[in-house]
Amino acid sequence: MSGKKFSLTTPIYYVNGLPHIGHSYSTIAADALARYHRLAGEAVYFQTGADLHGEKVQGAAEDAGETPAHFAARVSDIWQSTWDRLDIRYDRFIRTTDADHRRAVAKIANAIHDAGQIEFREYEGLYCVGCERFLTDRDTKDGLCRDHETKPEARREANYFFKMSEHFDWLARELERHPELIEPERYRNEVLAMIREGSGLEDLCISRPKERLSWGIELPFDSNYVCYVWFDALVNYLSGCGWPDKPDWEARWRACTHLIGKDILKPHGVFWPTMLHAAGLPLFRGLRVHGHWQVEARKVSKSLGNMIDPLRMKARYGFEPFRYFLLREMSFGLDGSFNEDAMIERANAQLSNALGNLLSRTLNMTARYCEGVVPEPDDDGPDETVLRDACAAAATAVDHHLRRFELHRALEAVFQLVDAANRYIDRREPWKAARTAARAGELRTTLASACRALRSIGLLLAPFLPEASAELLRRLGLGDALRNARLPDDAARWNMLIPGTPTSKGDALFPRLERQDDD
Ligand code: MSP
Repeated sequence: MSGKKFSLTTPIYYVNGLPHIGHSYSTIAADALARYHRLAGEAVYFQTGADLHGEKVQGAAEDAGETPAHFAARVSDIWQSTWDRLDIRYDRFIRTTDADHRRAVAKIANAIHDAGQIEFREYEGLYCVGCERFLTDRDTKDGLCRDHETKPEARREANYFFKMSEHFDWLARELERHPELIEPERYRNEVLAMIREGSGLEDLCISRPKERLSWGIELPFDSNYVCYVWFDALVNYLSGCGWPDKPDWEARWRACTHLIGKDILKPHGVFWPTMLHAAGLPLFRGLRVHGHWQVEARKVSKSLGNMIDPLRMKARYGFEPFRYFLLREMSFGLDGSFNEDAMIERANAQLSNALGNLLSRTLNMTARYCEGVVPEPDDDGPDETVLRDACAAAATAVDHHLRRFELHRALEAVFQLVDAANRYIDRREPWKAARTAARAGELRTTLASACRALRSIGLLLAPFLPEASAELLRRLGLGDALRNARLPDDAARWNMLIPGTPTSKGDALFPRLERQDDD
């Protein structure tokens, strides 16, 4: 271990629904990043989980004829097993019903209360159950909630309020001083606009009377109320890091980055930092915000039936083409568009053709001309130098882009190397060299160099396509490579393949896909 720490969280997902393309993207992107940082030798902590409380879940439980506790636990199990079946390597799947989390919520509520930052007030406003909060004028359009396009309810209640607005000046200064707190930049600007005077964002109602909502964590200073679901949910990030009891919580926490979709920028960009500040706790390291997926050019919604179930994608096409598409297609921070035919096209062009062919022709020729073992190369000539430099450049680019959460750019860099390796083989025409005994050295050098490039490609693809990369490396005779690898440096190394290492051809790494509609 380098001693460097990297903690990463996904949002904890509401259990009134099931995993769809949007949740899959956040979770897969986080998994790819966590895998990369592990391969870089860092101490990684990766957390995902489920948000079990609140009116939405209580309502869904009622519709299902179950108690909220039973319903929420049952659906949380489905979420967790979905990520398990997709080989998402989280360190903890947190549930807001976990005992340590409940204790942490009570502790932070008390801390903010003791600091004189919570007030009891009578309040009247428009409430959106979809958002689980009172709306401001800016949140509505033509009398409807902008996000949910439903009519909010008029509600009058006595509730506890967190004096959030007192922290806006501090937050603005923090964001000016540390622009890296929220990236991409457009989202930092959005948060700054939210907290600017006159933006309508005020104090935060953090309680719900039990007579209206019983399914939640009780407020420690008033047993007639439960916590507002967001006040409870955001604390998951701290409780997951071991706050307040575990001795190493602070190191983990200070290394913590939250990955979220743009729909929940306000709670993460405004509620959460101000809550932490009021409680006298340090801020998270960063917030990284991605855009939204549309499916077949429409918003993802239950009523349109276009949610895209990741397990169904796996059953139809194998999981990695789907994983690849999500990571490659979406420019991190911007919206993306999913379309099953586009996914198939990308998989066939880039995975089956570019990468699959590079591997199969290299290993087929190695089998045919070099008895299936990595051949002994001569010294590098100009073509080899170009390819070697391309390996080093890809390793540097992957590291650079992943540290900036630009997953699409990192993948693009790997596939530029795939193209460079294919061009190298085309140019060297080893099949011609194989016809002349005098060109045996050239043939060996070409195939050894193609194997070396494939080794770099296999290592660099590990965070993105874990299964395919492990198989690719196994075929190169490097079954153990990932266990000992240290990225990015190992992927930039050229002379790491030992001549004489047995390789194996295998079947197509990515069989060509055809559209499947029947299930
Ligand atoms: N429970 C809250 C989060 C609490 S975190 C302290 C919640 N849950 S959710 O189930 O609605 O999940 C929202 C998250 O799912 C988004 O922030 C995003 O990460 C992901 N997505 C949901 N729909 C999405 C798209 N259409 N596209 C991309 N991601 C989106 O909000």
